[in-house]
Amino acid sequence: MLGNFTYCNPTKLYFGKNAVEGLNEELPKYGKNVLLVYGGGSIKKNGIYDKVSEILKKHGKTVHEDAGVMPNPTTDKLKEGIARARAAKADLILAVGGGSVIDYAKAVSVSVNCKEDPWEKYYLRMEDPDCAVLPVGAVLTMVGTGSEMNGGSVITNRAQKMKIGKVFGPEVFPKFATLDPEYTFTLPRYQMIAGFYDILCHIHEQYFSGTDDNTSDYVMEGLMRSLIHSADIAVKDPLDYEARSNIMWTATWALNTFVAMGKDTDWEVHMIGQAVGAHTDATHGMTLAAVTPAYFKHILPYGKEKFARYAVNVWGVNAGGKTQLQVAEEGIAALEKWMRGIGLVMDLKTLGVTEEMIPSVAYSTLIMTGGYKVLNREDILSILKESL
Ligand code: NZQ
Ligand code: ZN
Repeated sequence: MLGNFTYCNPTKLYFGKNAVEGLNEELPKYGKNVLLVYGGGSIKKNGIYDKVSEILKKHGKTVHEDAGVMPNPTTDKLKEGIARARAAKADLILAVGGGSVIDYAKAVSVSVNCKEDPWEKYYLRMEDPDCAVLPVGAVLTMVGTGSEMNGGSVITNRAQKMKIGKVFGPEVFPKFATLDPEYTFTLPRYQMIAGFYDILCHIHEQYFSGTDDNTSDYVMEGLMRSLIHSADIAVKDPLDYEARSNIMWTATWALNTFVAMGKDTDWEVHMIGQAVGAHTDATHGMTLAAVTPAYFKHILPYGKEKFARYAVNVWGVNAGGKTQLQVAEEGIAALEKWMRGIGLVMDLKTLGVTEEMIPSVAYSTLIMTGGYKVLNREDILSILKESL
């Protein structure tokens, strides 16, 4: 049965070729000072920086730059960003990049006027902002996280070896986001496929939970089938606009809070993946891929029915004459075969995890309670060892 919920997603989207022109409609709504946040320089190589700068200039904005946001943005970088935003007296933070840049922009937005240490307040104590929050806009260049239309903001504290995702409310969602599938054409293959798996994993995390009959599960089965279909095309031809645009749209729907309404969710794979990321700085989507098969095998006995449904409805497994367990196992095998086929990293060693690191990774993994089995530390240790 659907639980009660209040649903509000305030992000306005501009989707398609030249979506960046949507900035012309949005920029006049904000004051003069824009903090332009971006990553390690990809936007300078592919021309996106020039295009965005031209539009900002046209609208007479004073641009203050905050460059060098790294994948898996850190608390140290966050301190720098807060100082820059304060010095600039920023009226708008414009994030141009992927999930890391947008997550970071949100973290800056809630910290500029915050009197406490943002890491402790938002990430360790999981409190909500009680100060004025700066508006954030986004020009998306990497597909996967859904950060363009949600309140998620994941920050890494390298000294504490912790990577934590805070889910903020609608006041922190980007006010607007532009989504041009062609902006993702220059992504390196490794990032492209990591993003594909991040999307699938977001859907898994919300699908493999609960036993009720729920509209969202049907929606998610459709999203997964579309993603798998388009990812197969994009892996062969990364410049296929139809596939890349469908994937971009699926990514947004996978994590813009809609499919989670009124249902239980899991998120344990993300918790393990984040602990791996905190220890290795590995690419987010790959950390999820490396631990998924072992995790699914651990929880399968407790969620057989849903795994069998997934096998049939998502992977087209023929259930005739087979037990529920057999069907479920065939579904997981089909997933694993597909993951290897598109080139995902399927082991933790390749991502830099060593045997010695495993107890610390297991210790720093948060335990969620919405999945088919609530893991204990021994389970997490076994999953990590099997994924090595
Ligand atoms: O830094 P630059 O030079 O721009 O290069 C980036 C970066 O190296 C590159 N890139 C991005 N767009 C490009 C491009 N290269 C060429 N052409 C383009 N168009 O790609 C690399 C990865 O970018 P990043 O932003 O790190 O990737 P992603 O979007 O996967 O974001 C990962 C971060 O998001 C968090 C992750 O934990 C991780 O910290 N997540 C955020 C979530 C949310 N807000 O809800 C949920 C997710 O589960 C995830 O945890
Ligand atoms: Zn993710």
